[in-house]
Amino acid sequence: MSSKLQLAVIFGGQSSEHEVSLMSAASIIENLDREKYDIHQVGITKEGRWLLYDGPAEGLGNGRWLTESTPAFLAPDPAVHGLVALGKGGARTVHIDCIFPALHGKNGEDGSIQGLFELSGIPYVGCRVTSSAVCMDKAIAHTLLSNTDINQAHYLWFYADRYQAAPDVVLNKIQARLDPPIFVKPANAGSSVGVSKVERFEDLPAAIEKAAREDGKIIVEQGIDGQEVEVAVLGTRPGAEASCVGEIGASAQFYDYDDKYINGTSQLFIPARLEEDVAEKVRETAVRAYRLLGCTGLARVDFFVTHKERRVVLNEINTLPGFTSISMYPKLWMHGGLAYSRLLDRLIELGLEEAGNG
Ligand SMILES: Nc1ncnc2c1ncn2[C@@H]1O[C@H](COP(=O)(O)OP(=O)(O)O)[C@@H](O)[C@H]1O
Ligand SMILES: [Mg+2]
Repeated sequence: MSSKLQLAVIFGGQSSEHEVSLMSAASIIENLDREKYDIHQVGITKEGRWLLYDGPAEGLGNGRWLTESTPAFLAPDPAVHGLVALGKGGARTVHIDCIFPALHGKNGEDGSIQGLFELSGIPYVGCRVTSSAVCMDKAIAHTLLSNTDINQAHYLWFYADRYQAAPDVVLNKIQARLDPPIFVKPANAGSSVGVSKVERFEDLPAAIEKAAREDGKIIVEQGIDGQEVEVAVLGTRPGAEASCVGEIGASAQFYDYDDKYINGTSQLFIPARLEEDVAEKVRETAVRAYRLLGCTGLARVDFFVTHKERRVVLNEINTLPGFTSISMYPKLWMHGGLAYSRLLDRLIELGLEEAGNG
């Protein structure tokens, strides 16, 4: 048997960010050190089928992983400690030492698959079940952080079925508490899918309907007029460290899906164009939020810094942030001198370390 670490990289998934995951995973696979790891590429289709693919990483982008693969899934039984692959000759098991979930959004970033990892007994990269679920749900994360001195936009949240039962009650509450521009978002989504910026109250119902197509829970927030900045946090909860601050110069009305992945038109500024004391406040708040929400491994913590008062306002925490070589999370560490491949090594080490602590 190989002395290399048997690493499963899981990608795709039943999520609105399936395609983004394919891009993140391809970059991760290309940059993993082959001297250290035997890589097992496990794709989850949009229908939720699990496939073991052993072709080149380009196959993730062109769809070959869907056809040139065999059904395989992670066993919840810790005695297997790996995958069960269903080949022509019958079932076989594949031992796995560590899992790298290159997944985003629903089912990947929300604690669902982390629950399976826990059952399997296999160490894995990133946040555990509860912190994943808490950070994924913007209504829960906001509620938990509202008990601290971390600033957030004024917000309110509601279930879509409550809105449908009595739209006026909800609309009146929003009008009483917030002024346009208002951001309407699914509580659980990502990559700006289902997010709208509403400039007039009469446009709220359409924005709520749009968000409701993504999730049964909706959050509305006061629009913040500020710079959009992000920090990469790495480490165990007690050992968490913040990168320098990066900034997004969005080209569209806000940082939407096309801007993030299709046009590539938004500019990243590393380091962010901030005064030193403000940048320090952003970094310190990022680590505090990471610890408060119980994160481990990694997370990207996103903020606004208001134009006038230079207030630091937390927007959201992403526990499996975009991970292509041009994504903010790896770029922030590269700026700090940590190469992409070494960052991957570090994340895997942290996954193994966290399992040892468990
Ligand atoms: N309260 C807000 N004020 C100003 N802009 C916002 C606000 N909330 C979201 N945005 C804009 O919308 C984008 C997507 O919203 P975000 O909450 O980050 O959702 P996602 O999880 O989909 O990334 C942000 O990157 C930002 O450009
Ligand atoms: Mg975001």
